Amino acid sequence: MKTQKKIKRIGILTGGGDCPGLNAVIRAVTKSAIANHGWEVFGIEDGYAGLIEKRGHELTQAQVSGILTLGGTILGTSNRADPFRVPVEKSKKIVFEDHSDQTIEHFHQWGLDVLVAVGGDGTLSIGKRLYHKGIPVVGIPKTIDNDLRGTDYTFGFHTAVSIATEAVDRLHTTAAAHHRVMILEVMGRNAGWIALHAGSAGGADIILIPELPYSMDAISRAVKKRAQHGKKFSLIVVAEGAKEKGGKIIERKRDPKNPYPVKLGGVGKYLEEQIEKLTGLETRSANLGHIQRGGSPVPADRNLGTLFGTHAVELIARQRWGHMVCVQGNIIKSIPIAEAVHQLKIVTPDNPLVVASKAVGISFGV
Ligand code: F6P
Repeated sequence: MKTQKKIKRIGILTGGGDCPGLNAVIRAVTKSAIANHGWEVFGIEDGYAGLIEKRGHELTQAQVSGILTLGGTILGTSNRADPFRVPVEKSKKIVFEDHSDQTIEHFHQWGLDVLVAVGGDGTLSIGKRLYHKGIPVVGIPKTIDNDLRGTDYTFGFHTAVSIATEAVDRLHTTAAAHHRVMILEVMGRNAGWIALHAGSAGGADIILIPELPYSMDAISRAVKKRAQHGKKFSLIVVAEGAKEKGGKIIERKRDPKNPYPVKLGGVGKYLEEQIEKLTGLETRSANLGHIQRGGSPVPADRNLGTLFGTHAVELIARQRWGHMVCVQGNIIKSIPIAEAVHQLKIVTPDNPLVVASKAVGISFGV
């Protein structure tokens, strides 16, 4: 029988792109760990960067009081830092080195018993590797993209959808006033969840997602058909990762130090030019960008953050190392981190919202 470890002090970090609800998680973990178990809580700064560079500070109940409604993360984050792949300049060249042993030393020097890793695929994959090197790790899934397997939702997603839906609503009135085609480009990387949910909620006419490559012909037919039926404007919501059939994803830039070096963006602008050319209708595009990630979380994300944070503390009490909290069919539970990472949860053609959207006449440009 495995002997149970005595927990005294837990470390928490938030990694990857920030997302509304991170502070709700930090608050929930800190408050319930201190109040219900008497553990100390230590905040690691800027994701894995803080663990690599040994930067962090104690978290008290007072420090997490009043942060539930705040966007961002009071701990800071980094979407580049990886202890297994630290960029180092050698002979004027950047080479990547494995600093995981030194990083683990910092964990022990701080007297930590557990690492709570709050993040998406990248952060949790690193957490999994640290766990395999002997660190007790518990994961909490976050991403506005909602593309992590094993959980129906990640916190941050509902806020991003709400912001994107408001943008669709606002574009609606200006599109109608000017009889224009209006395009809204939203985030989501290689998954179409934000575009699908905001497009459906905002009553878009066309939704374009990476999972269903589009044809310009189908889009122009859908726009012209609306015009023929007296609808002089059309609204299109496009996911940044959407691509044309047989075409390529449109890149904004490359960031070689980032574990996800390809930065997406620009498909909205591309569509604007093509649609105007093919239909003769005045077309404008707007890119919502990081606005989707900023500001206060909606109630659903605050509550999901609180549920995930408190459940993670229960996982620690039960010593379920290498596990990640998740929500499946309204039940908060946990799965091995290994089951959630390395493969994305994408939109399938039989998704109920895709089917319902089609049933009410929304085109997917296919
Ligand atoms: O994964 C979250 C996300 O916001 C994606 O939707 C988007 O493609 C990416 O991060 C943007 O990354 P960055 O903040 O590095 O520009």
